[in-house]
Amino acid sequence: MLIESLEIKNYRIFRDARFEDLPRLAVVVGANGSGKTTLFDVFSFLKEALTQNVAQAVSRRGGFQELASRGQEGPIGITVKFRESGGRLATYQLEIALDEGRPVVHREILKFRRGRSGKPWHFVDFSRGRGSAITNESGYGREGVEAVREERVLDDPSVLAIKGLGQFKEFRVVAEFRSLIESWHISDFHISDARPSAEAGYAEHLSARGDNAAQVAQYLYKHHPKSFERVLAVMRQRVPGVSRVEAKPTEDGRLVLRFQDGSFKDPFIARYVSDGTIKMFAYLIMLYDPKPHPLLTIEEPENQLYPELLHELVEEFRDYARRGGQVFVSTHSPDFLNGAKLDEIYWLAKQRGFTAVKRAAESEALRNLIAEGDLPGALWKQGLFEGAGPQ
Ligand SMILES: Nc1ncnc2c1ncn2[C@@H]1O[C@H](COP(=O)(O)OP(=O)(O)O)[C@@H](O)[C@H]1O
Ligand SMILES: [Mg+2]
Repeated sequence: MLIESLEIKNYRIFRDARFEDLPRLAVVVGANGSGKTTLFDVFSFLKEALTQNVAQAVSRRGGFQELASRGQEGPIGITVKFRESGGRLATYQLEIALDEGRPVVHREILKFRRGRSGKPWHFVDFSRGRGSAITNESGYGREGVEAVREERVLDDPSVLAIKGLGQFKEFRVVAEFRSLIESWHISDFHISDARPSAEAGYAEHLSARGDNAAQVAQYLYKHHPKSFERVLAVMRQRVPGVSRVEAKPTEDGRLVLRFQDGSFKDPFIARYVSDGTIKMFAYLIMLYDPKPHPLLTIEEPENQLYPELLHELVEEFRDYARRGGQVFVSTHSPDFLNGAKLDEIYWLAKQRGFTAVKRAAESEALRNLIAEGDLPGALWKQGLFEGAGPQ
């Protein structure tokens, strides 16, 4: 499943922003305060709105007044266009407004288009807890079958209909969309969390903060030895001296990561290896995950890493996206950007207080320079991404 476009309205600095023609790997650059973190927060917001409800997702962000774009009227809106696994283009539209002070779903639509000319089927069309949903799901996609709709009322107008309507649990396209959002991974990696020995436990995927790196290492080692071997091979090649990494249980049942340096007899425990080593290791166990997340967002992966390594890291993000779905990365690093292709690059430019989204591939000047052999990171440094850097 692939997100083709994302439209954000009245969400903080995104008063009216659109990311079009999204590729599998999207790399976002922009000055401080231009909205990179906010973009990733939009994905978190959708996930929380689904797993909890919109009132909670709004309140965790300081309330509606804080979240809505300054000085703007109208609801907060997020529209995602995506291709479902059957190849059809679908649109999910969510609008949030206040109802007597409480954030509610002002409008929620999930529609699929059949073919190029077919009328879209609105599977879900709700406003403030009331609306209609399709009851003949099995007819979807069949020639000559029209949608049959039934009115429904939800218990709570701040719960999404795609969650609140139990009937859709079994229905492939809606279930697929829900599980897509539920498995998004919005990384908020902190070296200090990945470093100390973690609590005992079991984990298959790296957590958002990276604090279960030892458990995931143990899981890969036990259940996906080939992936684990690859991680080690890459570590050996990129981090001089690291010959082996093990996740070792302690007597009190915790797991400790230990890095073997070929020059010494005893391994170093994770607490004493370098930031870059821990970070590279955590990224690798995330990127070589045998079951990639359908969407992964990472902020500034370059921090703590040696510039020469970033080119390969871009390749690894791209590869992850190819295997699993889609990756969004923000960066401040020209070296990282040099590894990206022009049609993977978006930049954010603040104009009169709000963010405009630009696509590098749309600039003729950039296309020509790249065709002549220039690298995107170098062009960005030269100021050719207008409005993308500090003025
Ligand atoms: N409700 C709002 N309306 C308009 N702008 C907002 C609102 N809330 C926050 N901002 C602005 O959004 C920006 C935050 O952007 P952020 O995503 O942290 O940028 P980056 O990650 O690129 O540094 C700040 O400039 C802040 O002033
Ligand atoms: Mg930021």
